[in-house]
Amino acid sequence: MDMTLNAKVRRAVKAREQLRYQRGFGNSFSSEAVKGALPLGRNSPQRAPKGLYAEVLSGTAFTAPRAENLSCWLYKLRPSAMHGPYRRLARGQLRSGPFDEVETPPNRLRWDPLPLPAKPADFIDGLATLAGSGDPAAQTGLAVHIYRANRSMERRYLYCADGELMLVPQQGALLLFTELGKLELHPGEIAVVPRGMKFKVALLEKAARGYVCENYGAPFRLPELGPIGSQGLAQTRDFMAPVAAFEETGKCEVVAKFMGALWASAFEHSPLDVVAWHGDYVPYKYELARFMAINTVSFDHADPSIFTVLSSPSGQAGVANCDFVVFPPRWLVAEDTFRPPWFHRNVMSELMGLVHGQYDAKASGFLPGGVSIHNCMSAHGPDLATYERASEAELKPQKLDAGLAFMWESRYVFRPTRFAMTARELQKDYDAVWAGFKRAQK
Ligand SMILES: [Fe+2]
Repeated sequence: MDMTLNAKVRRAVKAREQLRYQRGFGNSFSSEAVKGALPLGRNSPQRAPKGLYAEVLSGTAFTAPRAENLSCWLYKLRPSAMHGPYRRLARGQLRSGPFDEVETPPNRLRWDPLPLPAKPADFIDGLATLAGSGDPAAQTGLAVHIYRANRSMERRYLYCADGELMLVPQQGALLLFTELGKLELHPGEIAVVPRGMKFKVALLEKAARGYVCENYGAPFRLPELGPIGSQGLAQTRDFMAPVAAFEETGKCEVVAKFMGALWASAFEHSPLDVVAWHGDYVPYKYELARFMAINTVSFDHADPSIFTVLSSPSGQAGVANCDFVVFPPRWLVAEDTFRPPWFHRNVMSELMGLVHGQYDAKASGFLPGGVSIHNCMSAHGPDLATYERASEAELKPQKLDAGLAFMWESRYVFRPTRFAMTARELQKDYDAVWAGFKRAQK
């Protein structure tokens, strides 16, 4: 580690010691970094306190139902509108819908982890898109990117008009500086940055890698609990929103992701100049270890939807634009049951990642940082080694805590990019994990 990086890390560690959070999901939060900066009793007084500029950031249509309506009032040092034109930037390996670069095969697809960057790369530079569906212009579908970075974003900020960004770090802690404040993010946690919110990503370690779901559709929300009752799965108090924090740095670049392309504009000042704010359209983080897992205490096991952390609905009841599902450490106690995931062909399409360890349906080949895609009606399930082990295993209560896998599941087929289909990391022999099953004995 060089001295510059050491100094940066020290500064970042110092900054994170001061981090505080507000707890809850969908709350009407409020926060002020300067006492008296948040107006009371009205949103837009004739003159806002401290001469701040009042500005609204809405994440849903004004007229969305109350339960789904998301917006935030910001009180800023300068209006966001004060900037010059955006100009096009190279998009590198970043792609957006419609995903029609290459034909989508019905094959099961799996990738080894993409390597960390050899050259200096920040969060934006290191984004590579593996697959996606839908179209940001239609606000439908999603994209899945891998980020790889070895430097912090310096005097550089990003906002994504195409969708909200769910970050799943796999290696290296991050410090997210957002318009509403800071979030420290470690592997084992996730964070969501709302559509349109400006932010920058600082590294707390030498290198970072992780997964990004760019959700073009409706914002992620907690799933209904139905017969589970009033508690379980991800619980509202475990979600953490930031407290107001602003900075007053000088010239910088703001990068916009808009209609699939990257654009940049020179700003005279940091866009993170929100002194106070209130509302429910907020960035947040969640530690996956807090997920209260529910499953069978008799036989068989529930559909994996029982592990849904957050869901982006598609407009058709019960059918997700994207579900974010985690496979957490848990006890397996089912009697007379094949305990790993069964063989299946589903109408929904699945993209899986692995934060650390091992996934219980794959004995090998699915590595931390890797990705698998099992699209609509493509047959998959346990590999041969897993099948043989699990069908012979003594069914004692067993603690499953070998790893942390997750899935983004969508009603839309994940269509890989050209980069993904030509990457050295694409496993050419993935089908072989389902070779060699013996004919059933009648
Ligand atoms: Fe599956």
